[in-house]
Amino acid sequence: MRPDAQPGHPAVLHLPVMFAQVMEGLRVLENGTYLDGTFGRGGHARGVLRNLGPGGRLLLMDKDPEAIAHAEREFAGDARVAIRRGSFAELAQWDATGAGLDGVLFDLGVSSPQLDVAERGFSFGKDGPLDMRMDPDSGESASQWLARAGEAEIADVLWTYGEERMSRRIARAIVARRAQQPFLRTADLAETIASVMPRDKSGIHPATRSFQAIRIHVNRELADLEAGLDGALARLNAGGRLAVISFHSLEDRIVKRFIARHAKAPPANRRLPETTGFVASLKEIGGAQRAGADELATNPRARSAVLRVAEKLEGAA
Ligand SMILES: C[S@@+](CC[C@H](N)C(=O)[O-])C[C@H]1O[C@@H](n2cnc3c(N)ncnc32)[C@H](O)[C@@H]1O
Repeated sequence: MRPDAQPGHPAVLHLPVMFAQVMEGLRVLENGTYLDGTFGRGGHARGVLRNLGPGGRLLLMDKDPEAIAHAEREFAGDARVAIRRGSFAELAQWDATGAGLDGVLFDLGVSSPQLDVAERGFSFGKDGPLDMRMDPDSGESASQWLARAGEAEIADVLWTYGEERMSRRIARAIVARRAQQPFLRTADLAETIASVMPRDKSGIHPATRSFQAIRIHVNRELADLEAGLDGALARLNAGGRLAVISFHSLEDRIVKRFIARHAKAPPANRRLPETTGFVASLKEIGGAQRAGADELATNPRARSAVLRVAEKLEGAA
């Protein structure tokens, strides 16, 4: 989970996470076309725009209507910019991407405005309605899901997406408590979880992993990431760059495996027929990158960020 999900970190205005490394990775061409699939509040997008000439284009997406409202307020007058509300999972269905992209950026997870506004229901530190959807008009809220999911399903989600060792115990407590009263508020859920967790001296709130897991589930974050990576590869021009910042190991594993699958032939296996005809479509640029010491000292949210960059190869489909 992004460290800024913990209460106590003030919403300081920083450069967006790993800004210089993202700009270097995207290597913005003056007349190129770029897609920022996670606009947020536009920190990275502004960096891309600064490097684009009048013939360049920047396509902006976000699931969150408030992020899109910001994008429209700030960039509606810029002829180089096009804006679309929606998941980057559907980027290839946006006509504007049809002519090809020279770079795609996904800066995953939630934004600090989403975490800081109690009404969005993401934060165990700020009591609000238990929602957690980046797009409040799509799918079930956390409250709706917790009202209907079976105990085993809840335990599975907590274990798989939160790596929560107490997943079964927490799921049991949730099901027992909802039989009395539905979960409507974040504080309710956080208290129920805390009430069955052993004391932890680390200072991390006992609901941290469960909130992360429920958020990932409610927003279908990993399925979107898989689809977004496929869409990006399909739309990138030869020489185009893909840059993805992830904030936990589940996301990073997906990105790492995606790049490896398209960059390297699968290892030979004596038991299987030899795979011939592998054509690499991506080249990895620089491996896993982390924020530098200066950024880590001033920006707590950079602590768990991992950036991976890859380039689409000539001749790839
Ligand atoms: C970490 S913030 C991005 C911050 C941004 N790079 C900036 O500089 O302000 C993540 C944003 O991505 C959005 N988001 C997350 N998953 C998404 C998806 N699958 N499709 C579109 N937007 C998504 C969230 O709503 C949030 O606004």
